[in-house]
Amino acid sequence: MSSIVESSADLPDEAATLAFAASYAKTLVAPCSVALIGELGSGKTTFVRGVLRALGVVGSIKSPTYALVESYDTAIGEVHHFDAYRIDGRDDFLSRGGFEYFATDSIRFVEWPENLEDSVVFDRIVRFSFEGTGRRVEVDHLGENRRS
Ligand SMILES: Nc1ncnc2c1ncn2[C@@H]1O[C@H](COP(=O)(O)OP(=O)(O)OP(=O)(O)O)[C@@H](O)[C@H]1O
Ligand SMILES: [Mg+2]
Repeated sequence: MSSIVESSADLPDEAATLAFAASYAKTLVAPCSVALIGELGSGKTTFVRGVLRALGVVGSIKSPTYALVESYDTAIGEVHHFDAYRIDGRDDFLSRGGFEYFATDSIRFVEWPENLEDSVVFDRIVRFSFEGTGRRVEVDHLGENRRS
């Protein structure tokens, strides 16, 4: 799939991930589906937590590993945070009601999107990798121009 790398950044520590997430939050407009790619522990959940804090969420922000999805009312509308780590393909996601969230005027972040087997069309990708004790992030915008 072709894509444009819009930007990349070094994130030397968790605070840097949170600061990057806060600036990324300013670019979000619903509807939007964002794939979060990166190995275990690469910072995907930390990034979503930073986005949600920047959007005014003040309560606890849990990793949705067991619940599949955690949803939040934010300054720019509903944000759904998925962790598909335990999802076993498209049919499993369908039977858990996952696709319903993609039919609404909301923002969706998905950790482990590989497990949905290309059944969701993403507008953006955020990729995390390890670099020393920190992380590196790359941001791609794929399909937002399709709607305009
Ligand atoms: N830029 C960074 N530099 C160093 N550590 C970081 C950075 N960003 C996040 N971390 C730390 O990495 C750890 C794992 O982060 P996180 O849970 O966000 O990863 P994840 O990609 O969601 O993992 P999983 O795939 O298991 O859900 C946390 O302890 C977090 O504080
Ligand atoms: Mg996570």
